[in-house]
Amino acid sequence: MKCCLVLPLLLFVFCPVLQAYRWSSTLEDNAHVSACVDGNVSFPWSMVTEGKEEKILDIDWLFQAPGKGNVSFATYVDGNFLTNKDRFTFIPNAGLFLQGAQSHDAGRYYVIVSLHDPKCRLTSAQRMVTLTVADRPPATQDDALHVTLRDAVRDDVTKDWTLQIHCGLFVDFGHPRSDVAWTTPSGEVRNSSYQDNGTFVLSVSSPVQGGNYSCQLAPSAPAAHCLPATSPLNAAAQLYVDDMDVRLSLLEARQRELISLHQDLKDDFFKQLTAELTNLTSQMSGLNEKMDYFLHNPKELIKKREYPKTCIKASAHSVTSEILPRGVTASI
Ligand SMILES: *[C@@H]1O[C@H](CO)[C@@H](O)[C@H](O)[C@H]1NC(C)=O
Ligand SMILES: *[C@@H]1O[C@H](CO)[C@@H](O)[C@H](O)[C@H]1NC(C)=O
Ligand SMILES: *[C@@H]1O[C@H](CO)[C@@H](O)[C@H](O)[C@H]1NC(C)=O
Ligand SMILES: *[C@@H]1O[C@H](CO)[C@@H](O)[C@H](O)[C@H]1NC(C)=O
Ligand SMILES: *[C@@H]1O[C@H](CO)[C@@H](O)[C@H](O)[C@H]1NC(C)=O
Ligand SMILES: *[C@@H]1O[C@H](CO)[C@@H](O)[C@H](O)[C@H]1NC(C)=O
Repeated sequence: MKCCLVLPLLLFVFCPVLQAYRWSSTLEDNAHVSACVDGNVSFPWSMVTEGKEEKILDIDWLFQAPGKGNVSFATYVDGNFLTNKDRFTFIPNAGLFLQGAQSHDAGRYYVIVSLHDPKCRLTSAQRMVTLTVADRPPATQDDALHVTLRDAVRDDVTKDWTLQIHCGLFVDFGHPRSDVAWTTPSGEVRNSSYQDNGTFVLSVSSPVQGGNYSCQLAPSAPAAHCLPATSPLNAAAQLYVDDMDVRLSLLEARQRELISLHQDLKDDFFKQLTAELTNLTSQMSGLNEKMDYFLHNPKELIKKREYPKTCIKASAHSVTSEILPRGVTASI
């Protein structure tokens, strides 16, 4: 039993040097393929073998749903294709065709081909493809894309103003989520900087290039391919931005900043003023209380007064004269 297990393993180790087969390049390994729900998709795997000696013995296909383990779902042996998923059919010589893709078909598909090699008894080769199934195309408010220029935004990092170009207005980004691709006047293709309330935004920092800025559903977004060929959403939208627009937008932004700065200063000033007034008021009412108290208790005022010791002795007999204004003599 042991020898039978070891022998194929040894052969497997030495085989790669002797391999003559090759995959035809129609579907790269680790490729990403997308389909729309109810649509058809094919994995056109195919292998070229050398001479009579190298022969495909059997083929196995595995499926791995996201976060799950591998499940074998089809095999090809002796010219027979067997599968427990009846929407899959065989495309020679190692490929598959899936009719009516569904959301639960999304995941990884492996093909494992076992070969009879000229020098070895057995070798195997595998490839993988990741399938995405889009079930909802993106949609906009009026079935078209529009590019608009909005208020410039200050970049907290560069401390500079950036132009904000919006593309929308989406009511649904589709599933999986679509994105847009931007083309700048120089022809550079860029991704959106961020997404805001149904629009995708391209932030352009100074110096801003004048010219046409266009946006289009990203070709890499699977859901974008589920739109009808005639949909206006397939078309790119553009906005011509001239230097005047740029200067105006940046000027407006600075003006808004100044106004808000001014407002902040005003607010601060009033806050401080109010605080000082409150303080003064409380000090005043403190004084008033004291005054009231002494008006009603005049003797307390006398007690409170500090006399030099000699002075107290000298005038101890005529206390009343002390509280009379100067120039008025007490008549006892
Ligand atoms: C999918 O494939 C089937 C069988 O080949 C065909 O009848 C059908 O029209 C195809 N559907 C689409 C959307 O291409
Ligand atoms: C699934 O099978 C493939 C092919 O044998 C293998 O490369 C992969 O690691 C397996 N994945 C898991 C999660 O077992
Ligand atoms: C745009 O985003 C895609 C995927 O999110 C990424 O693969 C691509 O490299 C990005 N392109 C640029 C120009 O940054
Ligand atoms: C989002 O856009 C809608 C439609 O233009 C608008 O009515 C709404 O006020 C916006 N919301 C925010 C938070 O900007
Ligand atoms: C911008 O696009 C408009 C409309 O397509 C076109 O007429 C114009 O020549 C373009 N401008 C530049 C600078 O490419
Ligand atoms: C009021 O102002 C005085 C003098 O500026 C200060 O010493 C005191 O702490 C203030 N009191 C309050 C309640 O702010």
